[in-house]
Amino acid sequence: MESNKEQKYIDTIISLVKTIIYLVLLILCCILFLLFQEDIQKYIDDAPKRKAEKIALDAQLEKNKIEPEKQKELDSFWVAKDFSNISDSAQLAQLEYGKDLIAHTAKFLGPHGSVARITNGMNCQNCHLDAGTKAWGNNYGAVFSTYPKYRARSGKEEDIFKRINDCVERSLNGKALEINSKEMQAIKTYIEYIGSDVKKGKEAKASGIYKLGFLNRPVNPETGKAIYATKCASCHQANGQGVLAEDKKEYTYPPLWGNNSYNDGAGLYSISRFAGYIKFNMPQGATYQNPQLTDEEAWDIAAYVNSQDRPKKDLSNDWPNIAEKPAGYPFGPFADSFNTAQHKYGPYQPIADFNKKNKKKL
Ligand code: HEC
Ligand code: HEC
Repeated sequence: MESNKEQKYIDTIISLVKTIIYLVLLILCCILFLLFQEDIQKYIDDAPKRKAEKIALDAQLEKNKIEPEKQKELDSFWVAKDFSNISDSAQLAQLEYGKDLIAHTAKFLGPHGSVARITNGMNCQNCHLDAGTKAWGNNYGAVFSTYPKYRARSGKEEDIFKRINDCVERSLNGKALEINSKEMQAIKTYIEYIGSDVKKGKEAKASGIYKLGFLNRPVNPETGKAIYATKCASCHQANGQGVLAEDKKEYTYPPLWGNNSYNDGAGLYSISRFAGYIKFNMPQGATYQNPQLTDEEAWDIAAYVNSQDRPKKDLSNDWPNIAEKPAGYPFGPFADSFNTAQHKYGPYQPIADFNKKNKKKL
């Protein structure tokens, strides 16, 4: 009897303790809820934001998946063959002289040149960036492997000497170098050497100038003028004349038009070539990975710059096969009935389509 009473007493105590524990827990919960009420509300409110962040993160991960592809493309680009370790000192000296002539042409051959005064003061490197080694910077990667080759401008097979003198006479608006001169030999040896890792007959990747897709409208020199003022004039100057270096021999910023610029027979005078060149190289510092111009900007600036005055060359023997004239080349006769304005400013696609169809017929 006694023990039964005791048991009841213990049970009461236990249930009392239980109740107290429940109560304390309840109070604790209430306190916690009150304490973190704001955070809980915020968590609920932030749900859409979290969702958006998750989507962004997924997109980033997706993008990272493409990165290796891009990397693969960049890794496939041509790299100039290094010659710094060559042990033959005569060969090394010639290669270094060739490189110097490309990088600082005007010092040797410009209006104040130390060897001859036969060019306009520009350097080959002004257009063939990093001494002709930059990816899509009009580099020499495909010269060793593809020359001699047929060129549409002359309608003949050309060797490297002829091609170099083409740029001397047109891009540098100068007089041709003697084939046997020390300078011509050094330039040719340098250009050949840096491309000599490329198999004969193969095009090096990212060599020369990028072929920009056509716009489906005419290019617009007026729009180009406005973009030129904001993106180019700070270096090349509003009047396009560039800025001479302190030594007055080379340019710090080369001219884009006027008496000291390339003539109307030069490669850059074709609007398509100019646009492709600046797309991945200008303003200075732009690269294939990090372009600074949209395609439309590049085309419109090209239209503007190549509408300015520049030296003239006798071009009567150029493009004997008139159907091979490049887009943006303004001089007739043409193989079609599109007018000169459309040849110069486009739209180019209808002309290209016409020529393609006609070629098939032949
Ligand atoms: C005003 C710009 C400019 C200057 C300066 C210039 N070039 Fe060029 N060069 C070009 C253009 C444009 C091309 C054609 C690129 C194309 O159509 O892919 C070219 C092409 C070449 C090629 C052929 C490349 C190939 O893959 O077929 C050689 C070689 C060359 N230039 C050498 C020279 C040398 C040497 C000098 C200096 C004496 C020089 N260039 C100066 C613009 C220039
Ligand atoms: C920050 C200065 C700077 C700006 C801005 C700039 N350039 Fe250049 N540009 C240069 C330099 C420097 C060179 C010569 C590169 C070399 O010799 O290595 C050059 C070379 C060129 C060339 C080839 C050489 C010639 O004179 O024909 C062209 C074409 C050209 N730039 C066009 C443009 C255009 C178009 C713009 C505007 C979209 C532009 N540049 C903006 C500095 C600049």
